[in-house]
Amino acid sequence: MSPERDRAAGRGVGETGTVSAIAPALGADLPVRVAPEAAEVRVRGLVHRYPGRDGAAPLQVLDGLDLDVPAGGYVALTGPSGSGKSTLLSVLGGLEVPQGGSVVVHGTELGGAHARDLATYRRQTVGFVFQHFGLLDTLTAQENVELATMLAGVPRRRRQARAAELLADVGLAPRAGHTPLELSGGERQRVAVARALANDPALLLADEPTGNLDGASGERVVELLEGLNRDRGLTLIVVTHDPALAARAHRRLDLVAGRVVEARRAEDTRG
Ligand SMILES: Nc1ncnc2c1ncn2[C@@H]1O[C@H](COP(=O)(O)OP(=O)(O)O)[C@@H](O)[C@H]1O
Ligand SMILES: [Mg+2]
Repeated sequence: MSPERDRAAGRGVGETGTVSAIAPALGADLPVRVAPEAAEVRVRGLVHRYPGRDGAAPLQVLDGLDLDVPAGGYVALTGPSGSGKSTLLSVLGGLEVPQGGSVVVHGTELGGAHARDLATYRRQTVGFVFQHFGLLDTLTAQENVELATMLAGVPRRRRQARAAELLADVGLAPRAGHTPLELSGGERQRVAVARALANDPALLLADEPTGNLDGASGERVVELLEGLNRDRGLTLIVVTHDPALAARAHRRLDLVAGRVVEARRAEDTRG
């Protein structure tokens, strides 16, 4: 990793990318430090069910799902409400343990991973952006972003500089000292994007990131996410209800009956 690319990727020179690039090749279960390159996602036969309440049958949400996303890919995932889109993102994000099948992200097998390893994976490999922002209302934008790096053990001075830099990247330097309640929805979501980037993720997952935003602020968030994919090469998976947003991805997939299918193009569905 060259200093030039580090800078282009918004990283301080030498912050990442030395041990990391070779760690997977050493055969470590989980890399010591995440490689700065984009993540490849390979899912085979993923099964996920939720237990039924009061003797009801379990709900089979994901049913032998296969998914391939190349490193640097940009996939939009659509599907009816309740079809399992958030469940799939939770599994890819290491928030839910795969119950069956194989899920390999950036060389890490999540199926059967220990809780501790999943926590490391969540911290080092993925960035998550949620519909409801998921920011702490009592902390400023700056502190919300810093918190993510604090959990990764980054020293205080570097943490502060990093958070300020990320907030500047998303156009929020002047708003850094404000709490979420003092920010607009679009600004909150841009803070959430900055937070998702705090630890240089290789995979960015966004669950209906524009669902709570008006057209203009949604557009700005989408452009931000797309820029991260285009300019930094981050692998991007976006769940959305919005066909216009989905159409912008490299590839559109639908979640149907617990599996992923190629989405029909708009021109196929007219008529
Ligand atoms: N923690 C949970 N416990 C039980 N059922 C759940 C849980 N999370 C989601 N579900 C159910 O699983 C199905 C898929 O949910 P979800 O992945 O959130 O769908 P989507 O994001 O596509 O709307 C829904 O029927 C939902 O009610
Ligand atoms: Mg959902």
